Amino acid sequence: MSDDKMPSHHGPKTQIDGEYPNETMKLLIERGSCRNFIDREIPNDMMELLFEAGTHAATGGNLQPYSIIKITDKTAKKKLAEMCEQAFIGTVPMDLLFCIDWYRLRRWAELQDAPFSATSSFRHFWISFQDTIIAAQNICTAADALGLGSVYIGTVMEFFRELRSMFDLPDGVFPVVLLCLGYPKEKPSVRRKLSIDMIIHDEKYKKMPDDEILAGFEGKYPGAKIQITPERLETISEVCRIVHGDDFAERCLARIKDQGYINMAQRYFGLHYIASMMPISNEDYLKVFEEFGFGWFKRWLPADRGTSA
Ligand SMILES: Cc1cc2nc3c(=O)[nH]c(=O)nc-3n(C[C@H](O)[C@H](O)[C@H](O)COP(=O)(O)O)c2cc1C
Repeated sequence: MSDDKMPSHHGPKTQIDGEYPNETMKLLIERGSCRNFIDREIPNDMMELLFEAGTHAATGGNLQPYSIIKITDKTAKKKLAEMCEQAFIGTVPMDLLFCIDWYRLRRWAELQDAPFSATSSFRHFWISFQDTIIAAQNICTAADALGLGSVYIGTVMEFFRELRSMFDLPDGVFPVVLLCLGYPKEKPSVRRKLSIDMIIHDEKYKKMPDDEILAGFEGKYPGAKIQITPERLETISEVCRIVHGDDFAERCLARIKDQGYINMAQRYFGLHYIASMMPISNEDYLKVFEEFGFGWFKRWLPADRGTSA
């Protein structure tokens, strides 16, 4: 890839030409995120099937600590699209907001006179995050199986507080990810992935030699060369300086000049997921968790020692 435009982070396309033992395997391997939809409503009975598929997913202790907000209201969809700067969010028939939900379980515990400290527990948080995503992925796969298309929108994490007020989320309910659902305009392309031998380790983790790591990523982004522009150079240089200091910034710029392009790793962490920016809001995210009724990152003091969960 050599272009004068900033490519999207969605990578080059590839079409896998495989033979599959059944349709499910084909569906899983030939899936792709869909961002182009036709103007057609999803029938209610189809949505019910999707929700049955989602809520039958594996979940720690079978607790199901998640909720899904169905968003079909045009104004709400438009607002989400503007917030996330991704227009299709506003035009799809349905957006689903997947949330961790300990509110419902807390209510149940209260009504049953059961002790409850889940929102103060990292263990519970960790599992409920997984539960939420696993339910979401079941819905994605079910949507594919029914001829729908979908794409996750992670950008909602920039707007947790706004989502809380938009959707009346009570304490203990935390938004995780948005999913756009609709009928695809065309079959989404299958994106190139790392080969499975880079990801699968026999019995124990095997650290790969440098040349294999480079070759593996080259296989995923073959020939990818991002054009040098003064703005990109300035951004990368500044990011490198902030994260690793002046010497590293010089080394990175020298390499870019020497190779004649910006490579994909430099692009990902220097221009797209900007390394000097990504960790900046950590503390604010902890504040957000607290505002949403979570305290798993703090020392827990049980009621008999002063503060209750
Ligand atoms: C957690 C998560 C967040 C994502 N956020 C966005 C997003 O905000 N916008 C978008 O267009 N795609 C988003 N995606 C889709 C990815 O870009 C996509 O999965 C990736 O490029 C690989 O392409 P594929 O799904 O077609 O294989 C997200 C995917 C995941 C799993």
